[in-house]
Amino acid sequence: MKLNNIIRLRRSVRKFKNKKPNWRDILECIDVARYAPMAGNNFSLKFILVDDSEKIAQLANAAQQSFIAKAKYVVVVCTNPSRTVNSYEKRGEIYCRQQAGAAIQNFLLKIEEKGLSTCWVGAFVNNKVKEILEIPKDINIEALFPIGYEFKKPGTRKMKIDMDRILYFNRYGNKKMKSPKRIDA
Ligand SMILES: Cc1cc2nc3c(=O)[nH]c(=O)nc-3n(C[C@H](O)[C@H](O)[C@H](O)COP(=O)(O)O)c2cc1C
Repeated sequence: MKLNNIIRLRRSVRKFKNKKPNWRDILECIDVARYAPMAGNNFSLKFILVDDSEKIAQLANAAQQSFIAKAKYVVVVCTNPSRTVNSYEKRGEIYCRQQAGAAIQNFLLKIEEKGLSTCWVGAFVNNKVKEILEIPKDINIEALFPIGYEFKKPGTRKMKIDMDRILYFNRYGNKKMKSPKRIDA
């Protein structure tokens, strides 16, 4: 599939079929996350692939989002900020979060290409997730990704935000680009 189509077709899916995905497909999605840009080339992400149904039920509870419990796999994305913070101090914390987003987007696009579905889950009780998965104190939990096959394709997306609401030229707030000077022959 063309990258443009993959980007546009990706949707958050919150209802999964009972069919269990092949875990090797999920590993391929994690594999491409490794190619995201990282400040100082310090790779700060860790991935926990959860297939224990008891733990998945507990994660659903920690997020208070029952659809998670129906997934056969949940990928929990964490970051270890220590090396990035050692190199860049306060900015390192920001870099760490930004590079998690970059890596996650690679992961999400590969999920779409493999015909799998997921939903970025960012709302959860941090300490509960830490306890369930024995995640050390100094590790950040970035998000949970319940993975499955979509029960039915989400409806066609209404148009995403208009370009003229997000794009400025030369200074914040300026919506007009100066037209290039005419060159008379
Ligand atoms: C940082 C972040 C946190 C999110 N947390 C949740 C969440 O806890 N539960 C949920 O159902 N969706 C969550 N979402 C998914 C968004 O609701 C979804 O991406 C948005 O509605 C756009 O829909 P789309 O992904 O189909 O384009 C989150 C997305 C992001 C980027």
